[in-house]
Amino acid sequence: MEPCRRFTTSHVIRTIPAILILGILSLRVAECRVKVSSTLQYPAINCRKHSAVLTDFGAVGDGKTSNTKAFKAAIDSLSKFASDGGAQLIVPPGKWLTGSFNLTSHFTLFLHKDALILASQDMESEWPLLPVLPSYGRGRDAADGRFSSLIFGTNLTDVVITGNNGTIDGQGAFWWEKFRNDELKVTRPYMIELMYSDQIQISNLTLINSPSWFVHPVYSSNVLIQGLTILAPVDSPNTDGIDPDSCTNTRIEDCFIVSGDDCIAVKSGWDQYGIKFGMPSKHLIIRRLTCISPDSATIALGSEMSGGIQDVRAEDITAIDTESGVRIKTAIGRGAFVKDIYARRMTFKTMKYVFWMTGTYNQHPDEGFNPKAFPEIQGINYKDVVAENVTYAARLDGIANDPFTGICISNATITLTEKPKKLPWNCTDVAGVTGNVTPQPCSSLPEKEGVDCHFPEDRLPIDDIQLKTCFATTHALF
Ligand SMILES: *[C@@H]1O[C@H](CO)[C@@H](O)[C@H](O)[C@H]1NC(C)=O
Ligand SMILES: *[C@@H]1O[C@H](CO)[C@@H](O)[C@H](O)[C@H]1NC(C)=O
Ligand SMILES: *[C@@H]1O[C@H](CO)[C@@H](O)[C@H](O)[C@H]1NC(C)=O
Ligand SMILES: *[C@@H]1O[C@H](CO)[C@@H](O)[C@H](O)[C@H]1NC(C)=O
Ligand SMILES: *[C@@H]1O[C@H](CO)[C@@H](O)[C@H](O)[C@H]1NC(C)=O
Ligand SMILES: *[C@@H]1O[C@H](CO)[C@@H](O)[C@H](O)[C@H]1NC(C)=O
Ligand SMILES: *[C@@H]1O[C@H](CO)[C@@H](O)[C@H](O)[C@H]1NC(C)=O
Repeated sequence: MEPCRRFTTSHVIRTIPAILILGILSLRVAECRVKVSSTLQYPAINCRKHSAVLTDFGAVGDGKTSNTKAFKAAIDSLSKFASDGGAQLIVPPGKWLTGSFNLTSHFTLFLHKDALILASQDMESEWPLLPVLPSYGRGRDAADGRFSSLIFGTNLTDVVITGNNGTIDGQGAFWWEKFRNDELKVTRPYMIELMYSDQIQISNLTLINSPSWFVHPVYSSNVLIQGLTILAPVDSPNTDGIDPDSCTNTRIEDCFIVSGDDCIAVKSGWDQYGIKFGMPSKHLIIRRLTCISPDSATIALGSEMSGGIQDVRAEDITAIDTESGVRIKTAIGRGAFVKDIYARRMTFKTMKYVFWMTGTYNQHPDEGFNPKAFPEIQGINYKDVVAENVTYAARLDGIANDPFTGICISNATITLTEKPKKLPWNCTDVAGVTGNVTPQPCSSLPEKEGVDCHFPEDRLPIDDIQLKTCFATTHALF
């Protein structure tokens, strides 16, 4: 490596045409790793006038050196361009170990396909603490607080995290073990969290082994999530894929998720804290999702839904070896509502419950929850469902004196396992209709001739965002 040093300084190389570099390469240093510029195209909500490479700020991509300071220096420096056309930071090929860092507005973080961001395991110095989320009143793992996420941003506008399928590895095993052994006094970090932000794009990345939830947009709007491959062991704790939480206008498309918890969990705060904060998740599109999660849901609504969940449209959903389809999780104490939920074109293979609603998800932040805060579950529509190798068609548990109503299920063909249970449908405190559903639904969801459940055909504003073609000049390794 030593004789090649001078070729690896990007400042020098970038000014020399690539062809000349290649000439030098073949003549003199065939064995050396030499960087040359290459330009990549990518789609984004906004392109940037200014660009820099992480190595310009002293980063070392050896997988061992901490680059927390380099990320901070880079983003602090680039934040100056927020009102001058914005800036992008290119993460080039290499293994970039880092602790938590913060994003800025009018900013793009672009990962080259051979870039690997590795999350630090230095809990003492690389992970600042943040106050608990106001709509939760406490940390999800531990009451007292929470670590900042690996990639964090708050009160931002126009942020893009993308790449041509570069990877972020949360190195979660370290945290899962501490969590299982009850050794954490603070809630585990998420991989990516953006709070109080508007115009967010997170796309074309591979995210693996988050310490806890992977992608958490919260109190945000106009969120586009596209082309994520999210992978965690199916027995890892709380590794939810994507959790839109008190967000408006969100579109999640073309994601492949293997996880130890819900592939997508739509949330809006917890019991009295969520009720007080009062910010729903609404106008959410989920399409072309593939999920594998043997102990959890393809899409969960809740269990934290105390700001309300309304207008969710899911379509072209595939799940294999997953516990349930679109599951509602709630409890007395949550208050608020889950309403106007639409899901269609779902294909399931090997599933415990195709339809699952739970009114007794009795985890509370503390004793201060309101026992009179009944959630309203109303207008839940599922259609065009094919499911094979299913243990139970449905388990629908509403709440006594607070039934879940307006449930509609149509055109659903469910094939049970070879040794099906005696009661394929088990329904309590629910009401609605069905049409063209096999096996025969429970009596509280009577079959009616010609029932075709509603799915809205109007477009949401998040469907009309135009992506621009942007360019990233990175460094290819030869
Ligand atoms: C990120 O910003 C938050 C809130 O402003 C702050 O508390 C935290 O320390 C910052 N994190 C880093 C790594 O600078
Ligand atoms: C961020 O936005 C929230 C909601 O508008 C506001 O309450 C908070 O003070 C803002 N924080 C900062 C650091 O500007
Ligand atoms: C991205 O990388 C993941 C993991 O290697 C792979 O499974 C996936 O197919 C890739 N996606 C694209 C679009 O190339
Ligand atoms: C993601 O990659 C796919 C395939 O390479 C491309 O068609 C799509 O436009 C990209 N989208 C975003 C938002 O990066
Ligand atoms: C019923 O659902 C299946 C699977 O999504 C679909 O192919 C079929 O067209 C649907 N039938 C009607 C009448 O909509
Ligand atoms: C059917 O589901 C059972 C679990 O209920 C599983 O063990 C079995 O492998 C599945 N069969 C097929 C053919 O996928
Ligand atoms: C049906 O659901 C009720 C609760 O809603 C439960 O108590 C009962 O055990 C279930 N029956 C079967 C056979 O699973």
